[in-house]
Amino acid sequence: MSHAVIARLSAPLVWRRPKNMARKLAEFGATEAGSALDMLRASELCPDPRLRRIFLRHALDEARHARLFRHAADQLDPRARHELSSRAQSHQRLRDLYAELGAEAFLAFVLRAEQSGEGHFRALVNELGRSEPELATLFLAVAKDEQFHVAYSAHWLTRLAGPRRPARIRAERLSSLWLAWRRAGRQIGERVSWVLGVLLYFAVLPPFALMLRRLESDDPGWKPARSLPSSIEEARRQF
Ligand SMILES: [Fe+2]
Ligand SMILES: [Fe+2]
Repeated sequence: MSHAVIARLSAPLVWRRPKNMARKLAEFGATEAGSALDMLRASELCPDPRLRRIFLRHALDEARHARLFRHAADQLDPRARHELSSRAQSHQRLRDLYAELGAEAFLAFVLRAEQSGEGHFRALVNELGRSEPELATLFLAVAKDEQFHVAYSAHWLTRLAGPRRPARIRAERLSSLWLAWRRAGRQIGERVSWVLGVLLYFAVLPPFALMLRRLESDDPGWKPARSLPSSIEEARRQF
């Protein structure tokens, strides 16, 4: 589904109510903060000084985006930043992807993520241009930075990977599809287990409770012992 379609579909749900807008902006802030940490880590680990400098600039851009989104969220609802979902909270942590993937796969990941981010923000600019002009201006400024991130990661991926570039991009696409599939599976699983839990509660428990009520005597509660224990051993058994 294209970013424009997603923006159009999500606009009535997300970008009309201040509370939902604040939550979304706080989530963007969390994702940008996580990217800043990963880029900063890449700038520490990368052996090439030119790429290290670009990674550092990228980290500073993402940290600025995080600040801008969090500030915009605070303006709408100061609680939003402190009520992030556990998924959004996980996005603001360091993933250490450069160490995990190596330079080429990391650049392929950055290229795909930045293309997606730029597309998403530009779609939001088009969608919110008239209803939320201040936010549209913010998204446009961020999209321009993302455009630079797309350009440099594409350039450096070609430079480092050479003929392996298409394979790197294919592998990155497959891995992002696999992650999206797992995420969707987890979300569907959570929903299904909730529905099954509710069904179980209403469909299985009532007949069971009715059956128990029929089996129970008319006089519920504590009942006197049928006979008193005749020895200490018998008293210790209790049942
Ligand atoms: Fe960003
Ligand atoms: Fe970016």
